[in-house]
Order: sequence, then structure tokens, then C-alpha cells
Amino acid sequence: MEQELEKRLDIIEKGNITVRETKEISNDPADEKERLFHALDHIIEQYSHEPGQLIRILIKAQDLFGYLPEEVQAYIALKTGVPVSEVSGVVTFYSLFKTEPKGKNVLKVCMGTACYVKGAQEIMDTLKEHLKIDEGETTPDQLFTLNSTRCVGACGLAPVVLANDQVHGEAGAAGVIKIIQAYRKGENIESKKH
Ligand code: FES
Repeated sequence: MEQELEKRLDIIEKGNITVRETKEISNDPADEKERLFHALDHIIEQYSHEPGQLIRILIKAQDLFGYLPEEVQAYIALKTGVPVSEVSGVVTFYSLFKTEPKGKNVLKVCMGTACYVKGAQEIMDTLKEHLKIDEGETTPDQLFTLNSTRCVGACGLAPVVLANDQVHGEAGAAGVIKIIQAYRKGENIESKKH
């Protein structure tokens, strides 16, 4: 199948010279990965000469990839000469770094006491079953990430589910399935009671 090609302008700093390169790239995921690592090379090149820049490199790498998988951590370690254990230690220590991809829609089930006694666990189990993922995971199509949360201060609406930080109160198992279906259809969902 013929791949769709598009032009990309790379602006690369080489010493004091700015080089502009125009390349044809495809929409192939392998090419996208290559593009991301290519961009990461430039970030590392830009910062690795300055001491103490590991965190800055990791922040930029996370902006680029969306998260910091082991492969990216190992690559940064290799290119900067910092031991992998040190890179992963920094990633684990700071909560701003994510090692798992985040879905387009983040669902959080409130597991606070009021929600728990009104069936939060059943809601969590329903979501796990329908999305076929565990808590803390993201669906392979990157559409949903499932998490739990502590009390969000809407106990009067228990059980509560947050969908992209919108509060959905009295969200029974049927209600959360409707939320998933709506997001799958690309519908915009507002906070409401179910
Ligand atoms: S316990 Fe769920 S909102 Fe308070």
C-alpha cells in the first residue's frame, strides 16, 4: 500500500550553525518512533553538556513521548552516560514522571468511604471488565486510562466517577457503561447524575 508522505522541516542546531533539513516522512508508526528518537537525540545533544541536566532531559523526553517507557530511559542513559539505575531512580522518585501511557480519557472511580459503601467497587469491576484493563492501566487503543481516587468532596452524589475530571454522580454500573460508550462515539460528556 502506498504510504501517505508529508514533508517535515527539521531545524537542527549543529555547533553555532542552524541547519534546516526538509525530509519526506510517512505516517507509519515505525517512522513516527524514529522521528521521536531523532528529536530526543537533539534534546540530549542540547543539554547533556551541562551538568545536572538529567531532569530537564527527562521532562522534555516526556513531553515528546507522552511518558517515559523503559526503552526511552535506557536510551537516555546510554546517550548521556548516566547509569540506567540512576535514570530510573529519578523517574521513580518524581511523581511528575509517568512510566505508563495515558489514555485520551481518564476515568477515576472514587473509592472514598461514602462511595465505597454505595458500590464503588462494583463500578470499578464493571469498568475493568468492559475496558479489559486493570486499575492504573490504559487500553491498547489509548482511549481510556482507569484509576481510583480518594474522596473528591461530592459524597452527596455517591457513588462518584470522574471522567476527564467531570463529576458523574450516582454512577451505577449501567451509568459508567454509558459513559464509555459515549466516549467511544466521540461524544462530549458533561457532569451529571446517572
Ligand atoms: S467518598 Fe466519594 S466523593 Fe466523597
